[in-house]
Amino acid sequence: MSRNVKIAPSILAADFARLGDEIRAAEAAGADLIHVDVMDGNFVPNITMGPVVVKSIRPVTDLPLDVHLMIAEPDRYLEDFAKAGADALTFHVEATPHLHRTVQLIHNLGLKAGVAINPGTPASALEAILPFVDIVLVMTVNPGFGGQTFIEQSVGKIARVRAMLDEIGSPANLLVDGGIDANTAGRVVAAGADTLIAGSSVFGRGDVGAAIRALKDAARSHQPS
Ligand code: DX5
Ligand code: ZN
Repeated sequence: MSRNVKIAPSILAADFARLGDEIRAAEAAGADLIHVDVMDGNFVPNITMGPVVVKSIRPVTDLPLDVHLMIAEPDRYLEDFAKAGADALTFHVEATPHLHRTVQLIHNLGLKAGVAINPGTPASALEAILPFVDIVLVMTVNPGFGGQTFIEQSVGKIARVRAMLDEIGSPANLLVDGGIDANTAGRVVAAGADTLIAGSSVFGRGDVGAAIRALKDAARSHQPS
């Protein structure tokens, strides 16, 4: 099936002193979503941003805010992120035991619900929750930091998750996150990813527009027909 691949720049790699300008530049360059990486220093060994940042960037863009929760006990914070203006909340299956309850809580807040898996977690861990989610995020690096090297073995897992979604006729988006650039984009799109999250390959290289175009071009030339 042919898909229009979406680009979700991760503001983790943006210049936080100029965050509004960076987001506006990404939107002007054709970004489809803004990806917000939330880390708690517990589930992952890094601390980033919380609902106050989501609240401050909400008025800056019309693009959906795709919030990636790399936090333990995500249920405690869902409402805060919803109130701050998030459009989608994605939590890790490794971070909480009651996946279905967490998805329900997110849906009850009127948001899209997503599940993420780490490189060490098999696709099979998603099986029971898959029919209920709007988003599946496959980590292609270990979560916690931007700028890491893409784990090549993830490609097979992306293909497996795509097959699982197709098998149940799910319209959920399949996001990939970590080490995505114009070189790796083609392989993940060919495997079935429909949304590319990219931090360091988009921000910090001087030309956000050229970076987003390069990702879109790479995606387009590898789309399954
Ligand atoms: C990593 C985050 C990613 C990160 C990707 O834990 O979830 O979204 O920003 O950064 P790059 O594209 O630099 O690998
Ligand atoms: Zn992320």
